Formats: sequence, C-alpha cells, structure tokens
Amino acid sequence: KETQADEFLRQHMDPDTSKVTASYCNTMMKLRNVMGEPCKPVNTFIHEPLRDVQAICLKGDVPCKNTKSDCHQSSSKMRITDCRLKKGSIYPQCDYETQQKRKYIIVTCEGNPYVPVHFVGSV
Ligand code: C5P
Repeated sequence: KETQADEFLRQHMDPDTSKVTASYCNTMMKLRNVMGEPCKPVNTFIHEPLRDVQAICLKGDVPCKNTKSDCHQSSSKMRITDCRLKKGSIYPQCDYETQQKRKYIIVTCEGNPYVPVHFVGSV
C-alpha cells in the first residue's frame, strides 16, 4: 500500500525538471495519476532536490490555516509548477494551465523519519 510519504512524492516531486512547457501539467497530472474524479483543481510540482524538500520538516514551523496542527514553510523560495484546472474542464478531459513560479512552500510532515506528507500551499 502506498504510504502518505510515497503519495507526496508521486503527487508533488519532480526534481529533475527545470524548464517546463505549456503541456507539462496535462502530461504530468496523467502520468502521476493525480487528476482524480472530478478533476483535481490545483496541484503543485516541486523542482528541487528531495533532500531540500525533506529538510523543510526539520525547521520553519508556521501556524496552519486549517485544522492540521503542524505546518512547515521553506526558508528559501523553491522552483515549482502550479497546475490549475481550466474553467469548464470536465473529467476525464482535465485540462490544466501550467505556471512556473518561485515561491516559499508549506507542507505538513509526519512519521519517523519526519517527512512531508501534504502540500499545503505556496506563498
Ligand atoms: O487547499 P486544499 O486543502 O483544498 O488542497 C487540497 C490539495 O490540493 C492539497 O492536499 C494538495 O495536494 C493540493 N494543492 C497543491 N498546491 C496548492 C494547493 C493545493 O498541490 N497550492
């Protein structure tokens, strides 16, 4: 069974990609099987080394906006791609807008080792 940590890797990690094309999100949302039904509205892929993303868990405690108790924010901006479902897009034709950004990312972490399990957002 896929652990939450493995699910985070599948849904959010793409360290070896630095430049993305306009079709990146449509390709990746399918390839990583994150579209869901109905189409998942927003999903972020992170283009930084895994160790740098895992390190976020060890510092940078910030309050969570929701019920999740323990959020961690990266100390530097990270290269990410924001995938947003285009208006009027209906499953199974999930059509995403691809936007490359550099932002601080916020995750929640769990377990031992204490590793990222949810992508909360970017600021
Ligand atoms: O914000 P919300 O809880 O609705 O987000 C649901 C899921 O959407 C998150 O668990 C995460 O997988 C994804 N998400 C994301 N990037 C964002 C916001 C949400 O990947 N900026």
